[in-house]
This record gives sequence, structure tokens and C-alpha cells, in this order.
Amino acid sequence: MTHVLHRSIAHHYPTAVSGRDIFIRDETGKDYIDASGGAAVSCLGHSHPDVIAAMRAQLDHLEYAHTSFFTTQVAEELADDLVARAPAGLDHVFYVSGGSEAIEAALKLARQFFVERSEPQRRYLIARRQSYHGITTGALAVGGREWQRQAFAPLLIATHHVSPVYEYRERALNETPEAYGERLARELDAKIEELGGENVIAFVAEPIVGATMGAVPAVPGYFKAVRRICDRHGILLILDEVMCGMGRTGTLHACEQEGISPDLMAIAKGLGGGYAPIGALLLQGKIFQTLAQGSGFQHSHTYTGHPLACAAALAVQRVIRRDDLLANVRRQGAYLERRLRERFGNHPFVGDVRGRGLFQGLELVADRGTKEPFDPTRKLNTRVKHEAMARGLMVYPMGGTVDGRRGDHVLLAPPFIIDNAAVDMIVERLGDAIDAAVAT
Ligand SMILES: Cc1ncc(COP(=O)(O)O)c(C=O)c1O
Repeated sequence: MTHVLHRSIAHHYPTAVSGRDIFIRDETGKDYIDASGGAAVSCLGHSHPDVIAAMRAQLDHLEYAHTSFFTTQVAEELADDLVARAPAGLDHVFYVSGGSEAIEAALKLARQFFVERSEPQRRYLIARRQSYHGITTGALAVGGREWQRQAFAPLLIATHHVSPVYEYRERALNETPEAYGERLARELDAKIEELGGENVIAFVAEPIVGATMGAVPAVPGYFKAVRRICDRHGILLILDEVMCGMGRTGTLHACEQEGISPDLMAIAKGLGGGYAPIGALLLQGKIFQTLAQGSGFQHSHTYTGHPLACAAALAVQRVIRRDDLLANVRRQGAYLERRLRERFGNHPFVGDVRGRGLFQGLELVADRGTKEPFDPTRKLNTRVKHEAMARGLMVYPMGGTVDGRRGDHVLLAPPFIIDNAAVDMIVERLGDAIDAAVAT
């Protein structure tokens, strides 16, 4: 009998007792390959000695100091580190403890920016369907995962949603990827015109859609067009790099590969790599200047800039650079993609393999020809997860890929330290798990 309110009340969870490199061990001694980094978190794998040493050293000095009284050296150093490598113009950092908090902060900061600039009429937020931006009420409101929003709809702030980039299903046969991207950009522009450009606060998007769609990148030119549209209407562009950022796709920030810089950028998961709960919001100089001339950011948390979390994140980021792990993300990402295509390229129930770097997704379909998804009542994604766990493999499957209700995908986000042999093992076990799941 447990007193923990677990994610799934009926499910019996194994107890994790230790971790090492890409493995987590449970209380029976069984090892699981962490091929999803939990939820794209554990970018350095588990129990990295250098990160643990840095956290111990911080604890020896100071465990906590409330940010209304003090700053700390480690919080300053981490901010310097992040700004030095940030997309153009992002020059300040607001610390939080996770992804949802980063998005909440982004939404409030975007609104406050316009209030400070005497544009209080700006009140609309636009985001995309089938996106995930977190679970708190503001983040849930901008998120586009319909089944998760339904029960809480009366509590959510009004937001407007446009189409995601979903090439596999929504690019027309006679349409180039570029033309498809332009069509989606025109849809955004039309939505802004409908609401009145002067009334819109921000457009929120994940550069690569993670949890809800399974590592779906944009088409070439899409984000450049989005950037131009936002600029033309004076609207802020908020990029959610909570899952796809901090090296996961082979560059430190996913937006680098789109050739744009956002006004606000949320990061979390890979920032601290699971060693401590930490997230951050990076903001453009013009936003900081507006706050500095106004009333400062009217927002804070008790654990903002927690020294232990900052020490963990700083150590994680230094190890990634010292060991040139982004090069390994690109190398092993290419190898993982190749092995996935070899194993699943002609698989009767895998319709699409997609992603970037060590952020790869498979979309499962009942019929490859028609792209018909499985009946959602089969809960195929849950079965895949159980079959994978039975084989000592952690992957991150999810349902609702197609429209928030139908469709199944599997997300892979292994640690950046992975090698060829581990990739081979992941692909083999995943193949067996999917075959077993569709057979039941
Ligand atoms: C893109 C994205 N944004 C926000 C979040 C929310 O982060 P958290 O679960 O840390 O609150 C997630 C979590 O999966 C995410 O994938």
C-alpha cells in the first residue's frame, strides 16, 4: 500500500534504487536502458561524478539563500554561461524550477512588457494545436493537447490555436515543404489579422514538438516566416525549448538550426539534466530594458535561482562542453536515425521516423498506406511502454498524436554519452517491444 498519489493510480511502479551512465536499476537488480532520458531530461546519464562533486562542493558552502536578500556566485556564473551561448540578443536569465514555471513566467513577462510600454490592450496569446507547454494553468492554456485541457477549460485563460507543422500528415502531395511552411505562416498571419495585430501579446511554439507529437521538426523557412510575421505586428515570439533545447538536437539551442532568435526562450530539462529541478527563461535586451525602466518583473518563486540547482546546471553544461558531447549528439543522432530507418523503414506499423540529433520519434499506424492510426481504445502507446520496460528499456510513448485523441508515437531521447553499441541495443529492444505490443 502506497501513500503516494502516483501518475497512474492502478499501475505498480518498480522502485528505482540506483543509476549509472545510461542505466537505471530497480530494487530487483534489473537494469533499464534510459533511452528517453526519462522525459528528455537525463542528458548526461545518471550519477555523473563531476556533477555530483560540484553539487557537494556547493552544499559545503551554502545550500540556500532567498533571492529577495542575496544573489549567489553560482547563479551569476550560470547566467553568464547561458547568456554567452544564447541566441542573438538574449541577455538576461530568470530562474525557475522546471518547464511549466518557465512558460508561466514567459506569458506573464510578455504581458507585463506591453503593459509597461503602454499597450495594455494586448491580451491575446496564440499557440499551436498538439503542442505541450506544461501542466500549470497558464501553460495548459497555451498547450494544444485537447484531452488534457478539457476538464480544466473553465479555468484556462483564452488562447487561440493554429496548425502545427506536421509534414507526415498535413503537407499536401503536390506541395513542397517550403510551400507548406508558407501556407502555415499565412494561417498564423490571418489569425493575427482576425484578432487585430495590436491586440496580440505573443506566439508560442516548440521548435521541435516533443511529448505530444514525437520529435516533429518544422519545415525549412517556417520559423523565419513566423519571426517576420511577429516582427511586422510587434508581437513577441516565445520559443519553448524546454524539451528540444540544451543540446538535444545537436546544437545547444534548437532555434539555431532555424536561423532565428526568439524574444523569450524557455529552457529546462537538459539544463540541469535531472540532477536538480531547474529551468530558466531567457529574455531579449529590449525586454530587460523595459522592465528596468518600469517596475521590474512582477513575478517570483521561493526557489528561484536555488544555489544547488544552479551548481548542478553549471556542472552539467561544463561537462557537455569539456567532453564535446554535442558532437556526440550529432554523430550518435545520425547513427540512431539510420538504425531506426533500417529497422522500421518497412515496418508494417511504423508510418514515420523523424527528429533531429538524439531526439527521434516513431509514429505508429494501423495501416502504412492510408496512415490510419490504431483504435485509441487499444492504448497501443501504453502497451509499447510496458513491453519496453519488460525488456529493460525506457522509451517515452504517447497517444493523441494525430488530433489530440487518435494516434500513437514513441519518443527517444537518450543521454548524450551514448555509443553505437547502446544505440543498437535500444533499436533491437524497441523493435521487439513494438512487435509484442501490436500482437496483443
Ligand atoms: C516543450 C515542453 N514545455 C514545457 C514542459 C513542462 O515542463 P515541466 O514538466 O518541467 O513542468 C514540457 C514537459 O514535458 C515540455 O516538453
